[in-house]
Amino acid sequence: MNYGQLADGTTIDSYTLTNRNGMTAKVITYGAIITELWVPDRKGQLADVVLGFENLQGYLGESPYFGAIIGRVANRIAAGKFTLDGKEYNLATNDGPHSLHGGAKGFDKVVWQAEPLQVSNGAALQLKYLSPDGEEGYPGNLKVTVVYTLTNENELKIEYTAQTDKATPVNLTNHSYWNLDASATILDHQLRLLAEHFTPVDETLIPTGVIAPVAGTPMDFTTPMPIGSRLDQLKGNPGGYDHNYVLTDKKNPLKLAARARGPISGRVLEIWTTEPGVQFYSGNFLDGSITGKYGRVYEKHAAFCLETQHFPDAVHHPNFPSIILRPGETLMSTTVHRFLSD
Ligand code: GLA
Repeated sequence: MNYGQLADGTTIDSYTLTNRNGMTAKVITYGAIITELWVPDRKGQLADVVLGFENLQGYLGESPYFGAIIGRVANRIAAGKFTLDGKEYNLATNDGPHSLHGGAKGFDKVVWQAEPLQVSNGAALQLKYLSPDGEEGYPGNLKVTVVYTLTNENELKIEYTAQTDKATPVNLTNHSYWNLDASATILDHQLRLLAEHFTPVDETLIPTGVIAPVAGTPMDFTTPMPIGSRLDQLKGNPGGYDHNYVLTDKKNPLKLAARARGPISGRVLEIWTTEPGVQFYSGNFLDGSITGKYGRVYEKHAAFCLETQHFPDAVHHPNFPSIILRPGETLMSTTVHRFLSD
């Protein structure tokens, strides 16, 4: 379906995926953005559990990455610079001195080529993007494919593949904002993170390189805790969580990373991933200045993000898992969002 047009006349399409249980996901070719996701609660009542705009105009304005695919490198690269195989690369900086979420025009702001796929257990959409050599300062032509599958088991699966013709850093994620109760804030949502460590950051949100235990700190979500219960105790008062958690399970390729529950609806979101980390962001920069779908004003903590990923600023930390992709290799990454209710 036609979703609108860019200033240069490019048409943006919207695709609808529906499963056997009436769940619906809507995806647009701009940014490969998930614009709607309708999920049943414990009584079977559907609600749209992701933040987003009413129309394309909203996404073309100041969007805090609502629902988008993030790349070439998710999260921050300190000073927008890195050295690879002895050569220094300078990136577009868009977060003070740093590069954030791919730079000035990341994968969230490009047009993807979409094609619906036939699958036996649900509905799927394939999206492709060719990121040219030098785009935002990154080396190599990078071919990226993202497949969204809405399964009949009430899962939204995201599969990423990428190949390059020159060595380049790559770290892909999806930046959906969740509110399982479609309520004003997520402060009362219960969250469990299967992570005994996190990567502490400086005041500009760049990791120090330390891998620190969460035990005994307000960072600890190893047992379910309301998101809002310890915000006032956070070190340096950053206004909420915006941290990369190091997933404990290093054995199973696809492992449970997080489980969140909306107390009003009983909707539960489990996130399973092949990635080593997850950025837990508690919607700290939302401030009531955005009015989204259905006329809802998004106040601080209106939603949370769980961005499965390799660790932020990995290019500067040899002790973090590498994000360098080389010619001849294929990056493969899977994240499954599994919806339940109790
Ligand atoms: C990520 C970053 C945050 C913020 C949000 C979007 O979670 O770590 O600092 O940029 O994306 O606003």
